[in-house]
Amino acid sequence: MFNKLLKRMADPALDDAAQGYEERLYEVAKEGVPAHIAIIMDGNGRWAKKRSLPRVAGHHEGMKTVRKITKLANHLGVEVLTLYAFSTENWKRPKMEVDFLMRLPEEFLSTFLPELIEENVRVEMIGYHHNLPSHTISAIRKAKEATKHNTGLVLNFALNYGSRSEIVDAVKDIAAQVAAGKLDLEDITEERITSGLMTNNLPEPDLLIRTSGEVRLSNFMLWQLAYTELWFTETLWPDFGEESLLEAVENYQKRNRRFGGLKGEEAN
Ligand code: FPP
Repeated sequence: MFNKLLKRMADPALDDAAQGYEERLYEVAKEGVPAHIAIIMDGNGRWAKKRSLPRVAGHHEGMKTVRKITKLANHLGVEVLTLYAFSTENWKRPKMEVDFLMRLPEEFLSTFLPELIEENVRVEMIGYHHNLPSHTISAIRKAKEATKHNTGLVLNFALNYGSRSEIVDAVKDIAAQVAAGKLDLEDITEERITSGLMTNNLPEPDLLIRTSGEVRLSNFMLWQLAYTELWFTETLWPDFGEESLLEAVENYQKRNRRFGGLKGEEAN
């Protein structure tokens, strides 16, 4: 189960501090990590501005964070990592920034696909294909194909994704089936709506992280986040390192998830 962590811990080159860190990872993993972590990666623009760099330099640095966090999440035993990389509203940004963002999956995957394969990571995507440039789609398609048999972490990019549109589409599909006499009103259940969403083959997120101090959901997985634990941090996405993820997961592990019911002593 923790093969990757045990292998890391057995590295004879580790000094005492590094050994201590690996043991901390092992403790976190043993405690039970969230099966699905979803992240709103925010603050790239501010990271760049603080350094008098163009906004796109922040996105580029953010891409490096994606690599680090993917690797650690995979080693900890997280099953799904969904990253909000581009929303249906992000088209409102300047064309140059949009073009840059659309090139990032390609750059990321052309650089790190061999590593993702080596790490047993499976690439997936949620979001609308329409409007996406063909080079973006083909990079994702190639990565999905190359990793489809992998059994480790699912790295799920939310690209041109919008939760309200997703819900509207699911509702339209249900309405069409009712109108055609193929579905009864009584069959419109929470499960039926869930199965009409782009996430239908994924567990609901256990933990949502948003970086950069903004405290809102920005049209991200509104239905799926109903019982998700939320973690907001001031850290800007390019600065969100391994320590930041560990802090979020350790905090999550202290929470008492009740899903509307009672837990432990109170339930008796
Ligand atoms: C929000 O920060 C961030 C985005 C809209 C883009 C997120 C994309 C990445 C982190 C890179 C993704 C990498 C891959 C591999 C797809 P912002 O620009 O709104 O920051 P600001 O609020 O500080 O201006």
